[in-house]
Amino acid sequence: MLALITLLGTILFINVIWSEGTEVLVANGSLAVLPCVVSSSVQTPLAVQWVRANIAQRPDLGSPNSMAPSTVWRMDASGMEFRGMGVGQRSGCPHTQFGKGEFSLQIEEVKNEDAGTYICTVMTKAVTIQKQITLRVIQVSFSSYQPLEGSNVKIACNIFPSPFRATVTWKFNGSPFTPKSPYQMWTGAKKEINLTRVSQKYMGNWTCIVQYKGQEGKATQSLTVMGITSPASDLTVVYTELGSSVLLPCVYSTSLTPENPSWTRVSDTVGRLKPLPPSFHISPVSSKTPWNRSAWIERVEKGDEGIYKCLGSVERKRMERQLWVVTAQVLKTSGTENGGSMLTCHVSNTTGITKYEWVEVTDDTNNIQKMTPFHWEKTLKIEEMTVNSRYLCRYFGEKGILGNATYHVSFMSALKQTQQSGPLSAGMIAFLVMLLLMLLLVVIQLYKNHRRRKMILPYPALETIVHSFYNAQECSERNRADTKGQNDQNAL
Ligand SMILES: *[C@@H]1O[C@H](CO)[C@@H](O)[C@H](O)[C@H]1NC(C)=O
Ligand SMILES: *[C@@H]1O[C@H](CO)[C@@H](O)[C@H](O)[C@H]1NC(C)=O
Ligand SMILES: *[C@@H]1O[C@H](CO)[C@@H](O)[C@H](O)[C@H]1NC(C)=O
Ligand SMILES: *[C@@H]1O[C@H](CO)[C@@H](O)[C@H](O)[C@H]1NC(C)=O
Ligand SMILES: *[C@@H]1O[C@H](CO)[C@@H](O)[C@H](O)[C@H]1NC(C)=O
Ligand SMILES: *[C@@H]1O[C@H](CO)[C@@H](O)[C@H](O)[C@H]1NC(C)=O
Repeated sequence: MLALITLLGTILFINVIWSEGTEVLVANGSLAVLPCVVSSSVQTPLAVQWVRANIAQRPDLGSPNSMAPSTVWRMDASGMEFRGMGVGQRSGCPHTQFGKGEFSLQIEEVKNEDAGTYICTVMTKAVTIQKQITLRVIQVSFSSYQPLEGSNVKIACNIFPSPFRATVTWKFNGSPFTPKSPYQMWTGAKKEINLTRVSQKYMGNWTCIVQYKGQEGKATQSLTVMGITSPASDLTVVYTELGSSVLLPCVYSTSLTPENPSWTRVSDTVGRLKPLPPSFHISPVSSKTPWNRSAWIERVEKGDEGIYKCLGSVERKRMERQLWVVTAQVLKTSGTENGGSMLTCHVSNTTGITKYEWVEVTDDTNNIQKMTPFHWEKTLKIEEMTVNSRYLCRYFGEKGILGNATYHVSFMSALKQTQQSGPLSAGMIAFLVMLLLMLLLVVIQLYKNHRRRKMILPYPALETIVHSFYNAQECSERNRADTKGQNDQNAL
């Protein structure tokens, strides 16, 4: 108390240098630094004091209501420090900077109610310096922090205390966001954006930037939109190859349990409903991940392309996503005028496809060779197909590769191909020579048998004699061998 009286006394009787009007704009929850820098000649102050003027403006009315000032932080001549209640408990004035004439106040985790006018007093023997700083706290708030997709959300930029004619701009996920004028307005102390029927694309960081009297401050808050997170937008295209399996994602926000989830198929021409393909499977309802309602087609057949719809409801709000399944296939048209064949990359819907690339994949070596370095067309002319190779067509969109489809060269088609044009490969020659040799051996054997029969046939009795003679001889030989074996065993 004594210190305060002396302080007030000095203010009354000694030269006071007063400066006002410094603005500090900070986000709710962050660190605020209220500057108080005096000439560096003020090296040993008698006392330093920070008080809060408590001229708080009620944001809704904008009228000041004065109260007695309260001390936030104080240091007297003896070096004793004192912290006030409330904001004082989170405040400090680092001594390390005193030598440079800096007596700035740091407030940690600023709250909306910390906003207001602060006065820094630095007392020396000769002079008392006072500075006034206005702390404005910025906060972004949503009418609902986890709205369901399809509902309306209000985003507000609150500034405490409300400045007169500040400039407020918005950023969404780091990029400038300019709401159309009817969706943005000042209501009392805050600037609002009305988002109608929010979708997943509004999920992310909303930043409000406030510019006022040459100062700038900003605050960010992240919005989570509850609903179907994957696919995030409707009419998502899924590319797949005929004969392969494809996953049709339908994943809700974690923690959501959709009611009456189902899958249907929409006809893309008339409004007629098409049946789901025979190998269409829906993820089994699991209590662990009830939010995953994805489906898959085990083997995509011709005719499976088109629109599939994943449906469900959350809190009686209907949610759905349409997935456009596009199939790809490589078709072969053989026999062009000068031999060879033509491969065509057939994609069921070419909207959004910008180019095609052909590669040859050799299975033994896993070697990938580009076939089209210069032209990017959907057809490929091949003079001669190699066995153990696959011809693969990759199709691209604006943002990169979308998918691929493969043509497998079968042995027969390769054989046919080589007969039409070009010499035989070494492997095939070897195979054919072997085949011929085997055939020759069979023919020789048949001829031999035939000749033997022809020689013996006129004397059928002789054949029997010859046979029995051989049999008898064989028999006696076997007996001899047996007794020899027994003798050997006895000898042992
Ligand atoms: C903003 O401050 C208020 C109290 O003034 C607090 O309840 C709220 O959680 C803070 N918000 C953020 C984002 O820090
Ligand atoms: C939003 O901000 C947080 C924290 O600053 C960051 O981790 C996240 O990546 C941001 N999200 C987006 C979509 O930019
Ligand atoms: C925003 O919505 C609120 C009600 O939710 C309404 O009172 C206000 O007029 C709307 N503002 C604009 C600019 O449409
Ligand atoms: C959802 O389920 C499908 C099939 O059951 C699975 O392939 C996919 O990885 C799952 N996704 C998530 C995000 O859990
Ligand atoms: C192809 O897909 C686009 C959208 O990606 C769609 O507008 C168009 O009607 C589709 N064409 C056919 C023939 O299905
Ligand atoms: C073809 O597509 C599949 C998946 O769609 C991918 O795993 C594979 O690497 C692709 N092949 C080539 C050669 O690009």
